[in-house]
Amino acid sequence: MKKLNVGLIGCGVIGTIIAEAIDKDLSDRFSLITVFDLLPEKAQKICEGMSYPPKISQNFRDFLNHPIDLVIEAASQRAVHMYGVKVLESGKDLMIMSVGALLDDGLLNELENVAREYRRHIYIPSGAIAGLDAIKAASLAGLSKVTLTTTKPPRGLKGAPYIEQRHIDLEKISEPTLIYEGRAEEAVRFFPQNVNVAASLSLAGIGKEKTWVRIIVDPNISENIHEIKAEGKFGNLVCKTENLPFPENPKTSYLAALSAIKTLEEIGRELVIGT
Ligand SMILES: NC(=O)c1ccc[n+]([C@@H]2O[C@H](COP(=O)([O-])OP(=O)(O)OC[C@H]3O[C@@H](n4cnc5c(N)ncnc54)[C@H](O)[C@@H]3O)[C@@H](O)[C@H]2O)c1
Repeated sequence: MKKLNVGLIGCGVIGTIIAEAIDKDLSDRFSLITVFDLLPEKAQKICEGMSYPPKISQNFRDFLNHPIDLVIEAASQRAVHMYGVKVLESGKDLMIMSVGALLDDGLLNELENVAREYRRHIYIPSGAIAGLDAIKAASLAGLSKVTLTTTKPPRGLKGAPYIEQRHIDLEKISEPTLIYEGRAEEAVRFFPQNVNVAASLSLAGIGKEKTWVRIIVDPNISENIHEIKAEGKFGNLVCKTENLPFPENPKTSYLAALSAIKTLEEIGRELVIGT
């Protein structure tokens, strides 16, 4: 059976789970041939204990020279800006985890155009939320309102530009507190590592200007909770996901990594059907 060669950019918590899945459960359909991270020690760590260790690329040019079929970005919005177009132009498919980057219209258009020109695919896993299938379907008839309420423990929002710029002391918050409300296009800039789901929801539904985001800090919870409410000609939808975060990176939910693995499985199945 033909295998797809995968290259991974970003060796943090999501990258690690994906690499392990390819090494174990998905090894009949995928080979992880190279990994790249700005921090070489992260790339080194991900290779430890793997049955089929990938090569560590020292830089992006080195990475792109490998015979990769599919690049998985699990790094940062900045990484999507820096590498996304080049990946597609070099004839490789691209899976994007830092979906917030796609709310930049210029980048989104360029990625779509280049993907079309080079006949490449861009895959966007559903991430840390449920309900995108229904939102997509409902948008066909017209959605009038879509709201995402994200509730996180203080450590899940640490370091976000919005928190830093406003000098919000997360440790001093003693009860559930609404700290932000605004449009998705702004939310992904203020919370680039926390509300990628707002971007996925915008792209699936009524867009970044009309999708409303509320962020609540709750010191009494340990989960990252995302609640979607939508209204439209189809009726009403309420969809709540209570996600367990990774201990190593509490900003990220386990479900997000699982959604990437599920997307890979589906790509693999197409491959089987196609051969
Ligand atoms: N779609 C979703 O629902 C969803 C959910 C959670 C996280 N995310 C996003 O997925 C991405 C990965 O998440 P994570 O929790 O694994 O993060 P992480 O911080 O644990 O790991 C990211 C890794 O990427 C590396 N990196 C960052 N920028 C880079 C660049 N320009 N080039 C090469 N390496 C780079 C970092 O050094 C780090 O090792 C983040 O952008 C995060 O916001 C998306």
